[in-house]
Amino acid sequence: MSAPVRPVIDRSLWSLPDDVIYLNHGSFGPTPKSVFAAKEAWSQRLASQPMDFFLRQMEPALDAALAELGKLIGADARDMVFVDNATVAMNAVAESFPLAPGDEVLLNDHEYGAVRRIWQRVCDRQQARLSCASIPVPIASVDDVLEPLFAAVTPKTKLIVVSHVTSPTAIVFPVEQICARARELGIPVCIDGPHAIAMREVSLARIKPTFYCASLHKWLSAPLGTGFLYVDRRWQGKLTPPVLSWGKSLAGRPARWQDEWNWLGTRDPAGFLAVPAAIEFLKSIGWQTFRDYGHQLAQQARQRIEALCGTQSLVPDDEQWYGTMITVQLPPGPSLRSSPNSWDPWTQTLWEQHRIEIPVVDWHGRRHIRVSCHLYTTPAEIDTLLTALTALIQS
Ligand SMILES: Cc1ncc(COP(=O)(O)O)c(C=O)c1O
Repeated sequence: MSAPVRPVIDRSLWSLPDDVIYLNHGSFGPTPKSVFAAKEAWSQRLASQPMDFFLRQMEPALDAALAELGKLIGADARDMVFVDNATVAMNAVAESFPLAPGDEVLLNDHEYGAVRRIWQRVCDRQQARLSCASIPVPIASVDDVLEPLFAAVTPKTKLIVVSHVTSPTAIVFPVEQICARARELGIPVCIDGPHAIAMREVSLARIKPTFYCASLHKWLSAPLGTGFLYVDRRWQGKLTPPVLSWGKSLAGRPARWQDEWNWLGTRDPAGFLAVPAAIEFLKSIGWQTFRDYGHQLAQQARQRIEALCGTQSLVPDDEQWYGTMITVQLPPGPSLRSSPNSWDPWTQTLWEQHRIEIPVVDWHGRRHIRVSCHLYTTPAEIDTLLTALTALIQS
């Protein structure tokens, strides 16, 4: 198996310490230096003349940044707002979504733990039911996702919440087909999409979700604490932000639904304003270069770890099903931690003994490893991971 040809990317474009093998871009992406500098420049502008910044500069600058993001993800900027992260976006949808006693919200067993908690809380409060479709692996076709998901729909299902790229299993779900089927049934869909942004070519115009929640500090490498919420026009007036403030434009512009979201009290919007710098960073390298390289490296890591562990692939070996991140089932090892949200002892060992940052997660009571491959990741680092895993498995 030949190593993927690495584009000429200097690791010094990031501030990553030399001795760290960082294979967890999927959780928290290190910020490129140029993006961090762009954020600092905006902070500087704010700090030097806050009145001018908030009253005259901020709103047009936020519009311009959202317009750039909209171009990237095939969405109209008028349908989006910046939020701190996917968690805030999902909370906002959950807290605003109308649920009556007996209604159902449908998730599935690949969803992110915090998202389950968010919906469990509102369902409990409203005496609604959180139902969970089981989507078994290995998945071989789109129907293997659609059939179990829609088999769990009942006349009481009021909303489907589904990941674009799943967290524990790193699978790209067929969200366009899910939204199309849900539309036929008249059920809104809320997509949890933080991994998809930049990793995939996303077009919200094609997917047509009702809500799309995402973080931009993962694969897009925007500053930490940046994300967005997309809302279908029919729902925009029904959503309230998590924090209530003036709800109007500081610059005195005509009212828009985003006014409730842009001013959540005094804060520094520099991270949002640096999103175009993150888009420019990856664009200058080439979207396809980034996606192809990360995918090829992930593909190789997947084949090698599966061969080492003797475990089966979760999805077919096709870009349709995974991008720059893969999950592989590991053989049983030291006992799993009791909480599914806490880090596994293997994560700690890989860090302490090998300086490898990588999540080992419990999914359905089995240990899985998730490998993220960004442009700074090298084939040699995957070799080191394989050596470390071999030692762990044999110990
Ligand atoms: C699928 C999924 N949804 C939501 C989140 C939450 O993202 P954030 O912590 O940026 O809000 C994550 C984080 O890893 C995730 O993987």
